[in-house]
Amino acid sequence: MTDQKTIVIGVTGCIGAYKACELVRCLQKRGHRVKVVMTEHATKFVDPVTFRALTHEKVAIDLFDDPIDPIHHISLGQEADVFVVAPCTANMLAKMAHGMADDLLSTTALATTAPILVAPAMNVHMYENPITQDNIASLKARGVHFVEPGDGYLACGDVGKGRLADPEDIADAVEALLFAQRDMEGKKVLITAGPTVEPIDPVRYISNHSSGKMGYAIAEAAAKRGAEVTLVSGPVQVPAPAGVEVVNILTACDMLSAVDERFDTCDVAIFSAAVADKRPAAPADHKLKKGVDDAALDAIQLVTNPDILATMGAKKDGQLVIGFAAETNDVVANGHKKLVSKNADMIVANQVGGGKAFGTDDNEAWFLTAEGDAQLPAMPKTELADKIIDFVAEHL
Ligand code: PMT
Repeated sequence: MTDQKTIVIGVTGCIGAYKACELVRCLQKRGHRVKVVMTEHATKFVDPVTFRALTHEKVAIDLFDDPIDPIHHISLGQEADVFVVAPCTANMLAKMAHGMADDLLSTTALATTAPILVAPAMNVHMYENPITQDNIASLKARGVHFVEPGDGYLACGDVGKGRLADPEDIADAVEALLFAQRDMEGKKVLITAGPTVEPIDPVRYISNHSSGKMGYAIAEAAAKRGAEVTLVSGPVQVPAPAGVEVVNILTACDMLSAVDERFDTCDVAIFSAAVADKRPAAPADHKLKKGVDDAALDAIQLVTNPDILATMGAKKDGQLVIGFAAETNDVVANGHKKLVSKNADMIVANQVGGGKAFGTDDNEAWFLTAEGDAQLPAMPKTELADKIIDFVAEHL
C-alpha cells in the first residue's frame, strides 16, 4: 500500500512544452508519480521519448493508441490525483471552457473528476484577448485552478504576459491542491452575505455599508475545503468564489425565501448578511418627487423585516447555525443576547462603526458560544473565514 500521488500532466503544442520536462522532474523529486498526455502538436516541440524516458511511463497521445486499454481517457482521468495542463494553449483553454473533447488530452480533461490545474502559455495578445479571458473566467467559475503566466520576453519576440509559470511554482500549486484540507467534503453550507436593499420608490432605498467581503470569504473557505456552498447574497461588487452557487436577492423578504427553501437540506447555515431590520411599508411605484410628494416622503412608514437568523434558529433540526453580531458597543454582552434570542450555536461578534468591519479587508472578532468565548486578534477576513470553518468542521 502506497500513498504516492499520481499527477497526470497534459502537454499542449507551445514552445513552453520543454519546461514540462522540468515540471516532471520537480514533481518526481517531491515523491509523486507522473504520467504525461500530449497533444499531437505538442509532439512537434518535444519528442514523446523524452517524457517516456523521464517518467518511465507510456506517454499517451492518441485516443486509440493503447491496444490494452481502449478507454484510457477515462482511466488516465481516474488515475490522476491532480490533472495539470502545462503549458496550456489558448486553443486548449477554449476547448476545455466549452466542453469540447476531440483529442485525448481534452477528453481526459472532461472525463476527470480530479482537481484540474491549468498553466497557460501563449502570445501576450492571445492571452489578453477577451475571448481567452472569458474562457479563463468560465473555467475558474467551474472550479478549475490556474497558475498565472509570467511577464517578460516571449518566444515570438513580443514582451508581456504569456510565459509559462516557473515549474517549481506549478509544482507548489499542485501540492496545494493535493494537500488541501478537504474536511468539509459532503457537507452543505448555506451562507448569507452582503446588504439587503429595501425600496422606498423605484430610485431610493434603505440599505447599509456591507460589502459582502466577510460572507464571500466564508463561502470561499468552505468551498475550498470541499463543501457544497450556496451563497444568498445582496448586491455586492465582490466576485463569486469558484464553485459556489450564488443566489442574488435584494430585500430581506427575498433573502428569507431563498434561505428558507434551502435550510432544511443544509448541514450548516452561516448568517453574515447585514439585513435591514426595517423596510418601507408601501414602496411607491413612481419616484416620489420633492415639492410634489413631500407629504409621502416625510411620512414613510417602516415595518419590521423578518429576522432570518432567528427564524432558522427556531426551526433548526440538526443544522449548525452561526450568526454574526455587528455592534458599536458592548460587543460581547450584546453578542451573547443574540446567541440566546436567535438560538444560534455560535455568534461571531464584531465591532462596527469608526471604519471597522464594514468594507474592510481585516476583521477582529469574538467567537461566542454557550460554552465560552474566544477573542481573536485582527486578521484578514479570509483567515477569519477559515477559523469559522475550523469551528464548523469541529462541531459537525
Ligand atoms: O460585508 P462586509 O463589508 O465584509 O462586512 C462584514 C459585516 C460587518 C457585515 C459582518 O461581519 C457582520 O457583522 N454581519 C452581520 C451584520 C448584522 O446585520 O448584524 P446584526 O447584529 O444586526 O444581526 C445579528 C444577526 O442576525 C446577523 O447574523 C444577521 O445576519 C442576522 N439578521 C439580522 C436581522 C435580520 N432581519 N435578519 C437576520 O438574519
